[in-house]
Amino acid sequence: MVENIIILSIESSCDDTSAAVLRNSVLLSNVTASQAVHEAYGGVVPELASRAHQQNIVPVVDQALKKAGVEREQLSAIAFTRGPGLLGSLHVGVSFAKGLAASLGIPMIDVNHLQGHVLAHFIKENEEDNNQPTFPFLCLLVSGGNSQIVLVNAYNDMKVIGQTIDDAAGECIDKCSKVMGLGYPGGPIIDRLARQGNPDAYQFSKPNIKGYDYSFSGLKTSFLYSLRDWLKEDPDFIEHHKEDLAASLEKTVVDILMKKLRLAAKDLNIKQVAVAGGVSANNGLRNAFHDYAKRYGWKIFIPKFSFTTDNAAMIGITGYYKFKDKDFCSIDQPAYSRVTVLNQ
Ligand code: KG4
Repeated sequence: MVENIIILSIESSCDDTSAAVLRNSVLLSNVTASQAVHEAYGGVVPELASRAHQQNIVPVVDQALKKAGVEREQLSAIAFTRGPGLLGSLHVGVSFAKGLAASLGIPMIDVNHLQGHVLAHFIKENEEDNNQPTFPFLCLLVSGGNSQIVLVNAYNDMKVIGQTIDDAAGECIDKCSKVMGLGYPGGPIIDRLARQGNPDAYQFSKPNIKGYDYSFSGLKTSFLYSLRDWLKEDPDFIEHHKEDLAASLEKTVVDILMKKLRLAAKDLNIKQVAVAGGVSANNGLRNAFHDYAKRYGWKIFIPKFSFTTDNAAMIGITGYYKFKDKDFCSIDQPAYSRVTVLNQ
């Protein structure tokens, strides 16, 4: 029988309200409303994020269904991000998804946001799209809140084999950017400046941590202290050197990320390596992936830009595989802000 599973998915874990529709693993629509309201504060303000989700959720879901050409009655299930994330933001998406699923009498599927980032590599943009990883593969998951190396054995079997013991890579870049007086979020700004700078202009300290774990707080402090010293000599130091500072910072972050990833790939003898999460939009990191692919014979998987940041398409693809496993959620399952295992 021809499979015809149609899933509406909802993502509201932070400051993007997103809804997507998938038919099996093929994406029909993916609509995201971002929240510019946080820019003035230099970071996400949870209270404002929840309020904006409330305003956006109905029009975003409506648009996703219209774009997909799907009626509510055709839906097989509704998938939603249950965590981790900001609780107030999650409550909006979780309550909306549960209410709609209950009113339609269809299953609800709770999705772990991080698992969604990893499974974004299985979203097909059309039936012929066959460039997906095979199991097992490694995924470097790098976002504002996470830096992890994930061993992916199956859609529903993932293990975090390394993670940051303090700050995440994205958080470190964002904080260094803030110290330089650049805008928010810092990641894309640092990326743009880095393209015009010398990555070897400055050296910052790198962590010395055993195994596959990461640490970025030392780099952040080293950047801050170096900058403080340079500013004593030249009050316009940042303005004069921002491209070189960005390029050197980016190179340091990318070197730290890639070194541990390479170690894990070598130890486990895995040649399929993917990257996911907001920081995977970074051009320096993407270039490093291509470089390592050539040097070590890796087959690499880099997501489209629209699937790097928070999006409902990745929640939908995870929902699709959970639907096939009949892994549904009951109406009393609450949102959660933190998680320790990926297969929750
Ligand atoms: O996955 P994500 O959208 O949100 C969560 O943290 O869940 O990741 C956001 C992070 C931010 O730290 C942002 O600065 C970073 O991704 N980011 C980038 C780039 N685009 C976004 N970092 C470096 N280069 C970029 N081009």
